[in-house]
Amino acid sequence: MSRDLYTASVRRKYNRNAMFYDVMDRMVRDAWRRMVVTQAFDRVLEVGVGTGKNLPFYDPAKVRSVTGVDISPGMLVRARRKECSVPRELLELDAQNLPFKDDAFDTVLATCVFCTVPDPLAALREVRRVCRPGGRILLLEHVRIDRPLVGTLMDVLELH
Ligand SMILES: C[S@@+](CC[C@H](N)C(=O)[O-])C[C@H]1O[C@@H](n2cnc3c(N)ncnc32)[C@H](O)[C@@H]1O
Repeated sequence: MSRDLYTASVRRKYNRNAMFYDVMDRMVRDAWRRMVVTQAFDRVLEVGVGTGKNLPFYDPAKVRSVTGVDISPGMLVRARRKECSVPRELLELDAQNLPFKDDAFDTVLATCVFCTVPDPLAALREVRRVCRPGGRILLLEHVRIDRPLVGTLMDVLELH
């Protein structure tokens, strides 16, 4: 499947699931979100902002603005309803091809996003490009465990 078709299918999936996402998402504890988000500073780009579950945790004493991007308009509708005490804008954009200038942000943050992006390397290159030198890239992601038995079980569950 081409990247464009795959991206369109991810968009459809999240549009379909947006109304259940906050109820279903029990995997990431608020304490973990807070731990990551409170390290953000100045101009922040949040990639794959989803329903905006991180937005309440941005600290107005450290963060000047948050730009949240996501390919799913259904998820963004919900993000717009979340409270956020710093100025924020929410945009429908593809992380694999961002329209921002090089070094445009001081922090780039993403939680549980790169396992859903069709070309995660392209998106990570974009993250590096738009984060200024000396800036911060903060990622919270699921990874494959390095224990042989459970790792193999994860591989099996991952097969489609
Ligand atoms: C598992 S959800 C995580 C949402 C949110 N970051 C959180 O922690 O609750 C993955 C999100 O990534 C978004 N996404 C997937 N591929 C994307 C892409 N290429 N560009 C931007 N967002 C993307 C999905 O639409 C979805 O909202």
